[in-house]
Amino acid sequence: MPVSVRRAGREDLPEIIAIEEASFSVPWSHQALAAELENRTARYYVLEREDGTVAAYADVWFIADEGQLANIAVRPDCRGLGYGEILLRTAMEALFEEGCTTFFLEVRQSNVQAKGLYRKLGYEDVAVRKGYYTQPDEDACIMNCKKENYQWLGHLE
Ligand SMILES: CC(C)(COP(=O)(O)OP(=O)(O)OC[C@H]1O[C@@H](n2cnc3c(N)ncnc32)[C@H](O)[C@@H]1OP(=O)(O)O)[C@@H](O)C(=O)NCCC(=O)NCCS
Repeated sequence: MPVSVRRAGREDLPEIIAIEEASFSVPWSHQALAAELENRTARYYVLEREDGTVAAYADVWFIADEGQLANIAVRPDCRGLGYGEILLRTAMEALFEEGCTTFFLEVRQSNVQAKGLYRKLGYEDVAVRKGYYTQPDEDACIMNCKKENYQWLGHLE
């Protein structure tokens, strides 16, 4: 099914909240998710399917020349279809065009799906943040992708 990626608006919040709550043991609160729409350093993107439903969202921060993936999630019934990759590539490539030189993120050590996606795009492990996550308690892996290490595909051009 053809998909498109666009910047999110307030009207997307119910679907963003539903995806967040279906995806994480400690989801961001509705207020925190809504506040990101007003956060000048944040960029919310959603991936929309041909039928108009939102299947995924990503939240990236852009500060100075540095990007941070704050959050990404795909609706559980839409995983493994390439949506996470399309969404993250779109968000990262947009920031690279605006002068971003490096991206960071934190991910649970056990999150093999997310780590697989990040490694495919060029992220490398750079540090461990002990006890970063709760419910369940777990260390965070800090990953970094410098622009020169990003695995361009060009399939979105
Ligand atoms: C992580 C997540 C965003 C990936 O999105 P997705 O749409 O399912 O992933 P894609 O189909 O785009 O897969 C892209 C790449 O990710 C990796 N990947 C995806 N699913 C995987 C799995 N089950 N096991 C290992 N690697 C996997 C692969 O490298 C894959 O590339 P390939 O298909 O060429 O092998 C999605 O699983 C998700 O929403 N998880 C729950 C929320 C979450 O953990 N977010 C990350 C917080 S840091």
